[in-house]
Amino acid sequence: MASNMKPTLRWLLEEGVVGETYEARGWVRTKRDSKTVSFLALNDGSIITNLQVVLPSELDGVAEVLEPVGTGASVCVTGELVESPGKGQRVELVAKSIEVLGLADGETYPLQKKGHTFEFLRSIAHLRPRANAFGAVFRIRATLAMATHRFFSDRSFHYVHTPIITASDCEGAGEMFEVKTSGDEPFFGRSAMLTVSGQLNAEALAYGLGRVYTFGPTFRAENSNTSRHLAEFWMIEPEMAFADIHDDMDLAEDYLKAMVDAVFEENEAELNFLGRFVDKTLIQTLESTRSQVFERISYTDAIQILEASGERFEFPVSWGVDLQTEHERFLTETHFKKPVMVTGYPKDIKAFYMYGNDDGKTVAALDVLVPRIGEIIGGSQREHRLDQLEARIREDGLEPEDYSWYLDLNRYGATPHAGFGLGFERAVMFCTGMQNIRDVIPFPRSPGQAAF
Ligand code: 4AD
Ligand code: MG
Repeated sequence: MASNMKPTLRWLLEEGVVGETYEARGWVRTKRDSKTVSFLALNDGSIITNLQVVLPSELDGVAEVLEPVGTGASVCVTGELVESPGKGQRVELVAKSIEVLGLADGETYPLQKKGHTFEFLRSIAHLRPRANAFGAVFRIRATLAMATHRFFSDRSFHYVHTPIITASDCEGAGEMFEVKTSGDEPFFGRSAMLTVSGQLNAEALAYGLGRVYTFGPTFRAENSNTSRHLAEFWMIEPEMAFADIHDDMDLAEDYLKAMVDAVFEENEAELNFLGRFVDKTLIQTLESTRSQVFERISYTDAIQILEASGERFEFPVSWGVDLQTEHERFLTETHFKKPVMVTGYPKDIKAFYMYGNDDGKTVAALDVLVPRIGEIIGGSQREHRLDQLEARIREDGLEPEDYSWYLDLNRYGATPHAGFGLGFERAVMFCTGMQNIRDVIPFPRSPGQAAF
C-alpha cells in the first residue's frame, strides 16, 4: 500500500498489526448494544468481511454519539487492533474515539432492512452497491477485467481502442442506435451509429500489430427483453493475424479458464457468499470449467445430438436453424456437462466476414457455450480471400463500396486470421451465479430502462 494512503479495512483485517492504533473508516452494517459495550460491524467495500469494532460504554460521550447511528451511517473510529476472540476473524478494533461522518435515516434508508429481492434492488441501482451481493459481484467484475488484461498481455496481445461511433454494421443485423446532433445537419456527413462490435477495426489493427484485443462498450438496439441481453454491454475482442479456427478455440478455452482461475485466487470469500446465497452449484460449475477439457463439436454434430435427445424444445431443431438458448443449454448443461465449442455453422445464419469452409455450406464460426448461460463467446476465422469476401458481402445484400476500407485489408498482405468476442456481462454472470444480466453491470441499459 502506498504509504500516504489511508488503510482499507481489508488491509486492517489481513495485515494490521495487533497492538497498534489505527483509524478505521466505513459504513455501519449492524449495531449491537450490551450493558458494558457496543459493537459496530463496519464495511468499506474493500472486502466482504466486516471489521468488528468494540466500543466500551465508559468511553466519554459514546452513548450520545452512538444513539442516532444505525445501518448505513458512515463513521471513523480510532482504536487499538486486538486479537479477536470470535471465530472467523483475525482481529477487531477496540475504540478509543468515534466520529460520525454521515448519518442514514433509518425511516427512509431502503437498505435498513435485509432480504430485498434483486428486482427491488434494481429499482435503487444507485444504492445497491452497498448491498453485500452487489459488492461481491462488482469486486468479481473488477477481478475479471484485470485478469483479462493480464491474460492477453502475457500472450503478446496489444490492447487497442476502437471507435464507439461507426458507419459500418459489423454484424449485419441492423440492430443499431443512430448517433445524431440535436440539429438537422448530419455531423459526420453521413449516418453514424454506436458500434455493435469493434471487430472490423480490430482486424485492421491486427494486420499491423499481429495480436490485438479491444475491451470496450458495445450497443445493440435489439428489442430482446431477456435476462441475457443488454442494450449497452462490454465486449472483449481479441484478433490474431496468422491464426485459424483451431488457434481461436485454443485461445478461447485458455482465456475462460484464466478468468475462472483469477476469481478462485482473488475472490474466495465472494465465491463462498454467492455459492451460499445465490447459486448453490456455482463453485462446482467453475471448478469443472477450469479442470475439464472443453468439448469441441461441429454444428452438424450438435444438431444430431439435439434431434436425438428426445427433448421437447420450444424452437424445433433441424439443420440450418440458429441455435436458441434452450438448445445451447441442453448441449452444455445436460449432454456434455461442461463448456462446449461449436464450429462450422451454416453460412446463411452467420455474418459475412466468416471464412467459408470447403463444403460451400458452412463457415468457420465459433460459439462457446457454458452452463447456465449458453453462448458466452462468438467468433470465427475471418474470410481473407478477397473474391470470396466480396461475394459474401453481396450475398448478404450489403454494398461492397460501404466496406471498401475493410476490403483493402485483404487486398494487401492477406493472411488467415481469427478472433472472437466475449460478452463481459455474460462472463460475470457465469462467475457469480447471478441469473439476470441487469444485476452484473452497475447501471443497466435495456428497453425502457436508462435511469440512474
Ligand atoms: O456473437 P456476437 O454478436 O459476435 C460479434 O459481435 C463478433 N463481431 C465478435 C468478434 O468475433 N470479434 O457477440 C459476441 C458476444 C456474444 O457471444 C455474447 O456473449 C455477447 O457478445 N452479447 C451480448 N451480451 C449482452 N447483451 C447483448 N445484447 C449481447 N449481444 C451479444
Ligand atoms: Mg453470437
